[in-house]
Amino acid sequence: MLVAPSILSADFLNLGSEVSSICEAGCDYVHIDVMDGHFVPNLTIGPVVVEKVAAIASKPLDIHLMVKNATFFVDLFVPCNPEFISVHIEEEKHLHRLISYIRNQGIRPSVVLNPHTSEDLLKYILPDIDMVLVMSVNPGFGGQKFILSMIEKVRNVKNIILAKNPNCLIEVDGGVSDKNIASLKQAGADIVVAGSYVFGSSDYKKAISSLR
Ligand code: DX5
Ligand code: ZN
Repeated sequence: MLVAPSILSADFLNLGSEVSSICEAGCDYVHIDVMDGHFVPNLTIGPVVVEKVAAIASKPLDIHLMVKNATFFVDLFVPCNPEFISVHIEEEKHLHRLISYIRNQGIRPSVVLNPHTSEDLLKYILPDIDMVLVMSVNPGFGGQKFILSMIEKVRNVKNIILAKNPNCLIEVDGGVSDKNIASLKQAGADIVVAGSYVFGSSDYKKAISSLR
């Protein structure tokens, strides 16, 4: 299992050392939650901060856009040179165009499903993406409770992936901990995002290895 700690739960007054700590502790990606106060009722960080994070992170960035007008935001974050940019399927009328645009910037495109959104919507976009991000909480805040029915969704997404694009990864985001990691692994998750579980622990290395 690959692990992507979400810096949303980091100590923002010491963001630089927090990012260095999770990289040294062996994380695989640094998960960045970008919220615009419109798509979700919360507002987080923009490119000024993320460029600084990119400059010190020794692991690739995994940017999760929770925004309206995602194309505009993609342009803002291209200079941060992330590995992935994830965009919500609920927000995009022209998702295929946006996915192609992300790939043309040299960034791996990923599509996010909110808890209520059916995996059936992936059918025609799956061949063009590198990752599906399954939200296991409602987006907007760290520290929420894992929605149990999302295990079944991960299993269903895995089956569609096997049929349509076996190289596509599955990432799960929200409420991930040592309590649900085994079920997520079994259902087919490749990467887990963990905010409060990692940053709330006193030993980042131990928390990351327990998920791995
Ligand atoms: C929620 C974010 C998550 C969140 C995860 O909108 O997308 O990445 O920070 O935090 P935990 O692991 O605490 O649920
Ligand atoms: Zn996220």
